[in-house]
Amino acid sequence: MTSRMRLGINVDHVATVRNARGGRHPDPVRAAKAALEAGADSITAHLREDRRHIRDADIEALRALPAPLNFEMAATPEMIAIATRLKPHACCLVPERREERTTEGGLDVVGQKAALAPAIAALKTAGIRVSLFIEPDARTLEAAVALGAPVVELHTGTWCEALAAGDAARAAAEFERIRKAAALGVSLGLEIHAGHGLDYSSAETISALPEITELNIGHFLVGEAIFVGLGNTIARMRAAMDRGRAASAGAAA
Ligand code: PXP
Repeated sequence: MTSRMRLGINVDHVATVRNARGGRHPDPVRAAKAALEAGADSITAHLREDRRHIRDADIEALRALPAPLNFEMAATPEMIAIATRLKPHACCLVPERREERTTEGGLDVVGQKAALAPAIAALKTAGIRVSLFIEPDARTLEAAVALGAPVVELHTGTWCEALAAGDAARAAAEFERIRKAAALGVSLGLEIHAGHGLDYSSAETISALPEITELNIGHFLVGEAIFVGLGNTIARMRAAMDRGRAASAGAAA
C-alpha cells in the first residue's frame, strides 16, 4: 500500500510579512500552530545568515512545539552550532547566497563533498535526521549516499517554473527527471522528499509518485491564505495531495 504523503509547512513568509513592519504580527509560531491544527505533519523554517525572515527566537519557539521541526539551513559553523544545540527533528541543508530571493538550485553535493561531510557528521551525531536539498540528478544522489545523508529533498522549482510558463514540453522533461531521481533515490536506500514552488495542482501531480514521502511547501500556501485563510488553504492542499496519492494507488492496483 502506498503511504500517505506527509505535508511540511514552511512558515518563512509569515515572518517576511511580520518583518515588513518590524513588529510581532503575523507571528510565524501562531501560523505553525494553525497549520498543525489544519492537518500539516511538520513545520519547516529557514534561518538565513541575514535573518531576513525567520529569526533565532522563532526557531527556538518552533522547536518547542509538539511537532517535528525541519530546520532549513546552510552548512555553516554558525548554523551547525544552533542545530546541534536545539536538536530539531530534521535539518535540511540548502545552498545559500545573500543576493538570492529564495533558494536557487540544489546543493552542489559533488563539488562540496569535503565541506559537507563534517557538517552532516556533526548533525547525525546530534541525532538529527539530515536531508540534502538537491537537483534531481543521478550523480548528486550518489554523492548524497556516499556522504551518509539518509534523506534528500528534490528541488521542484524548475518543473514548477515550466508549468507556470505554460511550457508543456519542458515541464514534462523536468517531471521525468524528478520521477527518475525519486526511483533511483529509493533504490539507493534514500528517503525522498520534494519541494519548492509547489501549488495545489503541482502538489497533486507529484503526489502520484509513490517514492516521494514528504512535500515541503511555503510561498504558495502563505499567499493563498490571504484569500481563503490558512486552515482552508492547508485543508485544500491536503486534499490535493490525497487525490494525487489515490490516483497513483489506483494505477498500481
Ligand atoms: N524546500 C526547500 C529546501 C526550500 O528552500 C524552500 C523554500 O524556502 C521550500 C521547500 C518551499 O518552497 P516554496 O516556498 O516555494 O513552497
